[in-house]
Amino acid sequence: QNAAPLAKFKPSRISTSLRSSLQSIVAPEVDQDFTSAQTRVKILSEALPFIQKFRGKTIVVKYGGAAMKSEALQASVIADWLGKLNIEPNFLNGLRVTDASTMEIVSMVLVGKVNKQLVALINKAGGTALGFVGDIASVDPTIIRPLIDNNHLPVIASVAADATGQAYNINADTAAGELAAALGAEKLILLTDVAGILEDRNDPESLVREIDIKGVKKMIEEGTIAGGMIPKVNCCVRSLAQGVRTTSIIDGRLKHSLLLEILTDEGAGTMITG
Ligand code: ADP
Ligand code: ARG
Ligand code: MG
Repeated sequence: QNAAPLAKFKPSRISTSLRSSLQSIVAPEVDQDFTSAQTRVKILSEALPFIQKFRGKTIVVKYGGAAMKSEALQASVIADWLGKLNIEPNFLNGLRVTDASTMEIVSMVLVGKVNKQLVALINKAGGTALGFVGDIASVDPTIIRPLIDNNHLPVIASVAADATGQAYNINADTAAGELAAALGAEKLILLTDVAGILEDRNDPESLVREIDIKGVKKMIEEGTIAGGMIPKVNCCVRSLAQGVRTTSIIDGRLKHSLLLEILTDEGAGTMITG
């Protein structure tokens, strides 16, 4: 139909060969002859080590807030998830067929989303009088673990209960980070509305592609990392300290940013390592 999605990739951030190769993967309707067999082999050999590396491993993704603004983006993020579960969109006489396993994911997404909207509404209505914003004392992964082990994709709203059953709204970055640690995840990915950690907040081209804990601590001290980026980075640092191998803050506005981050060398934002 159209190749428009590719125009949204920033050329400075993705090499031309990678871009045309990704085109054949992410936009299969585009003429395949455009991408030579050599290039397709090249892209596969770049992705294969990562497919092996992440096989059987858990990746926790925080999706929400700024990265959830547009419906088109929501659809594309969900397409990445479904792709990973090997569920192909299925059409019969031009009508989409939603099989049982797809329906399961759709309702998980909807329940997760609707849940969140309800919580936001409730918190708004309650105002400061309620103020049920909590910190995480502990995470019990025993309910989620078997779901993941059976190839389900849990969509978890960042709502938690205290010992009395009272619900609290937990910062979603924090919830994802603690969950990743409790699950022994390989990777934590936070989707946001900037390219990643920027050397200069006002220059989207100043992306830091990879940095370690020392580096981010220095950037916070110097004031280079500020605002909403501080809790994000701190939650990455806490996950890393608890054994999560890598954490990434990536651009949720970029189409297929999850796949780019996971399956390419250069990724789609900033990777923070221990
Ligand atoms: P989210 O809804 O994804 O949690 P936030 O608004 O809480 O997003 O946090 C991301 C924001 O942090 C960016 O939009 C940006 O304004 C701000 N920020 C501060 N310092 C930096 C930096 N060095 N690099 C990138 N973003 C930064
Ligand atoms: N695909 C690799 C991984 O997920 C490398 C990603 C690198 N990302 C980055 N933003 N520098 O482990
Ligand atoms: Mg935030």
